[in-house]
Amino acid sequence: MYNHSLHQQINAVLHNEKIDIGGKDNHFFTRFIANATAIDALFHDIYGRNGEAHPYFDRLIQLITRSYVERGEKLRSRDAAKTAKGHWFLSNEIAGMSLYVDRFCGHLGGLAKRLDYFQQLGVNFLHLMPVFESPEGESDGGYAVSDFRKVDARFGTLNDLRALQQQMQEEGMYLMLDIVLNHTSHHHEWARKAIAGDKKYQDYFYMFDNRQLPDQFDRSMPEIFPESSPGNFTYNAEMDKWVMTVFHRYQWDLNYRNPQVLLEMLDNIFFYANLGIDVLRIDAPAFIWKQAGTSCQNLPQAHTLLRLIKQCVEVAAPGMALLGEAIVAPKEIMKYFGTGLYTAKECDFAYNATHMALQWDALATGDTRVMLAAQHEILQKPYGTSWITYTRCHDDIGLGYDDYMIQHAGFNPFEHRRFLKDYFSGARPDSPARGALFSVNPKTNDARISGSLASLCGLEKAIQEQNEQAVQQSVDKILLMQAHSFFLGGVPMIFYGDEAAYTNDYSYLADPGKSYDNRWMHRPVIDWEKNKRINEQGTLENTVFAATQKLIRIRRQLFAIGDYKNLTWMTPYNIHVSGYLRTFEEQKIYCLFNFTNEDAWLTWFAFKEHGAAPAVLYDHWTGTEYAVGYDHQYLVLKPYQFLILEAR
Ligand code: GLC
Repeated sequence: MYNHSLHQQINAVLHNEKIDIGGKDNHFFTRFIANATAIDALFHDIYGRNGEAHPYFDRLIQLITRSYVERGEKLRSRDAAKTAKGHWFLSNEIAGMSLYVDRFCGHLGGLAKRLDYFQQLGVNFLHLMPVFESPEGESDGGYAVSDFRKVDARFGTLNDLRALQQQMQEEGMYLMLDIVLNHTSHHHEWARKAIAGDKKYQDYFYMFDNRQLPDQFDRSMPEIFPESSPGNFTYNAEMDKWVMTVFHRYQWDLNYRNPQVLLEMLDNIFFYANLGIDVLRIDAPAFIWKQAGTSCQNLPQAHTLLRLIKQCVEVAAPGMALLGEAIVAPKEIMKYFGTGLYTAKECDFAYNATHMALQWDALATGDTRVMLAAQHEILQKPYGTSWITYTRCHDDIGLGYDDYMIQHAGFNPFEHRRFLKDYFSGARPDSPARGALFSVNPKTNDARISGSLASLCGLEKAIQEQNEQAVQQSVDKILLMQAHSFFLGGVPMIFYGDEAAYTNDYSYLADPGKSYDNRWMHRPVIDWEKNKRINEQGTLENTVFAATQKLIRIRRQLFAIGDYKNLTWMTPYNIHVSGYLRTFEEQKIYCLFNFTNEDAWLTWFAFKEHGAAPAVLYDHWTGTEYAVGYDHQYLVLKPYQFLILEAR
C-alpha cells in the first residue's frame, strides 16, 4: 500500500544524495518506492514503532541509498541485464563448483589463473568458501569471521578478490560468497570491545551474568556440535559472563534484537554486493533469532529479517540473488522461499538438502521410496526460486528428513537411520563406504555423516583392495549420484575434488586446528600432479572428469532442465528405479536411475502417463535410441545405470 509520508522521507534522502529520480536513476527510485511499504512494515515488525526505532529506520533508508550510489555503473548495467533476462539463475546453462581457495590452489591470484580448469569442465559459477579474515585454528573453515571486510592474508587481498571477480565477469562466470550472518569470531573487533567492557558492543551479542537464562535456553535448544562444542553457551572469564555460542565456543551469536546489529550486517551485505558477487550465501539463517523456550531455529522473526534483507537488496543491488543456507527439516526449508505475500520474495535459493540426503538413503538401501515420499514437500517450491542441488558439500550429510517419510516406505525410522549410519561409516561388513560419523550425540543417538563422494560410493575401499570390478561400480555410483542431482532442476554445485574422484583426505588429523572436526576428511588438498591425469585417457581422474563434463554439456543443451516448475516424478513401477520427467514446451526429458547393483526392469507403460506417449526415446548419455515397447514389455537398466531420455 502506498504511504505518502514514507515517500516524502525517501525523497528527502534521495535528494540529499543527488539521485536523479526522473532520469538515469529512475529504476532505482521506482524499486525503492515499490518496496518501501514492505521495508517499513518488516523493519517495524521486528523493532516496533516507537521513537527508539525511528532513527534506525532513517539510517536504513540512508544505507540503501548510499549502497546504490556506491554500486557503480558497471554493476548497475549488469543488474539491468540480469533483470531483463527475468530470473537469470533458473537457467540450465549454469553449473557451479564450491571450493576452499587455499586447499584448491593456494590463493586468489592462483585461482584467477585456473579459470580454464573450470571452463574445461563446464563450470561457470564458483562458490568460494569464506575468504574473509578468520583466526587460524579457531576458524571453522572460515565461518568464524574476525573481519567481514578484510580478505584473510592466507588467500590474498581485497584487490585480488576484486580482480578475480572482474576476470570472472568478463569471462561470463558467476561468483558466490558467504555472509556469516549468525555469528562472529570471538576475535572480531565487536567481541574484543565487548570483552574490554564496552556495553555498546556487549549488546551486539547474547550475554548473561549467570546461568539462569542460559539454562533456560539450553533446555529447548538442540546442540549443533555436541562432541566438540557441547551446550549453547561459553563462559568468558574476562567479562565474567556467559556468551551464546550455538556453533563453536569461538563463534559468538549476534543479537538481532539490537537494530544496530542489523544495520551493521546489512552494510556488510551491501559491501559484498558491491564487490560484484552474483549470489550471496547467507550462512545459517535458521539461527538468527533466539527466543528462550524454543529451539531457536526457524523462528518467524528470522524470516522477517531475511525478507527485510531481500527487499533492501532488491532495491540497491537487484542483480544479486540470495541463497539461504537452511539445512533444516524439509517443511522448514520451504519457508525460506517466502510464504503468503512474500512468496518468492525471501531467499531466491535454498540448498536441496533433503533431496541430497535422500539420494544417499536410496544408494544405501537400493530403494527409492523414502526419497519419493519427500518429494511432495519439495515440489512446493514457488516459481522464480531455485535450488542448489548437490551430492556433497563441505558439510556433513544430515538425516533430518521426517520420520513419516521413512515410515511411508515401511521402515522403522530409528532402525533405518542406524542402518544408514552403519552403512556410510563402514561399520557394516557388507558396506563398501568409507565415511565417518560426525557430531554423535550420545543423549539422542543422532549423528551425521562425513566422507567424500568417492569414498562414500566405495572407491577408497575398492582401490585399497585393488578390486577392479568394485572400482568400476564405485565410478558408476558416483556418476549416478551426480546425474540424479544435475538434472533435477536448480544449479548443480559440484564440490571440488569430486570431479577428479578424490577420496577422503586424512591429513587434517595432523592439524590440531582441524583434527576435532572430521568434516575435514572430505575437504581435500588438491594435488595438481594428480589433477593433470584428467587429460590422460584410462585414468580414474579422466573417467570421472570427462563424465562430469559430459553431464554438464548435456544439461546445457536441454532447455527443459532449467528450473521452471517443470518437474514431475514418474510413477515408481519399480521401487529400485527413480524417474523424473522434465518438460518445457515440446521438450520432454525422462531421467531414470537404477539405485541397485542388479538389473532393474521398468514397464514401458511408465512413459505413457504424461501426455502423448513417445514412440522413440533417445538417451543423451550413451547416444542409444530406444523404441518404446508394449506395456507388458520392459526397459532394462543395468546396475547403477542412468538414462537421460528425450522423447522423439
Ligand atoms: C554453516 C556452514 C558450516 C558452519 C556453520 C557455522 O552451516 O556450512 O560449515 O560450521 O554454518 O557457521
